[in-house]
Amino acid sequence: MEVIVYNTAEEIGEAIGKIFVDTVNARHDSVLGLATGASPIPTYNYIAKAYQEGRVSLRDVTTFNLDEYCDLPREDKNSFYSFMVENLFSRTDIDMNKVHFLNGNAEDIDAECARYDSAIEAAGGIDLQILGIGTDGHIGFNEPDDHFSEKSFRIQLEQSTIDSNQKYFGDVPMPRYAVTMGTGIILKARRIVLVATGESKAEAVQKMIQGPVDPHCPASALQEHGDTVIFLDKAAAKLL
Ligand code: GLP
Repeated sequence: MEVIVYNTAEEIGEAIGKIFVDTVNARHDSVLGLATGASPIPTYNYIAKAYQEGRVSLRDVTTFNLDEYCDLPREDKNSFYSFMVENLFSRTDIDMNKVHFLNGNAEDIDAECARYDSAIEAAGGIDLQILGIGTDGHIGFNEPDDHFSEKSFRIQLEQSTIDSNQKYFGDVPMPRYAVTMGTGIILKARRIVLVATGESKAEAVQKMIQGPVDPHCPASALQEHGDTVIFLDKAAAKLL
């Protein structure tokens, strides 16, 4: 894996945003893997600006988001669906019929996860996947475990993840469960870019890059992926 350290989150957003724009301009019907959280926002800002300036069109792309909460209506302002509409989809010409999410409210979650994995495969697989990382080393919502997950599945969130994300929900308790692409599915993406900024990520970043490949730090699985670039600011790179 390649590691690049920048000064600011905005510079990282510009660098990754350019990779997305170039990918889509090289193949207008690219399949993009998308992430939520604070980390990808500068990237989405760059892509939206590139669209507004006529430098890219997302009309023909297909997207798959990494994860979604369970027991939260899709229209809730805190759903990952709403996050993507606000931060990227509504700011571009993306075709909402080509936008895909796991449904965390499906009656049969196992069938829903299998449907999602098949849909990714039927689309030809993900060309470019953006990831963030949790303070516990999670990617998507693959929390530390004794084994790496393969397929998409439902997971009970770790307390550290709840502590990090509760702020978005205010006084309303946030969901305890989520559905996520499995680590095995994420690793099938042809190209992966991961962004981590801020000191709170430094320990997870150090384990991901310099630790053993260990499911207790799910992001360490990226060491075995052939085309992953890690974008860090100085604070996140502090322990390397
Ligand atoms: C969230 C998401 C991840 C994200 C991570 C870090 O819970 N499920 O996809 O990468 O936690 O979020 P942030 O970028 O806000 O620090």
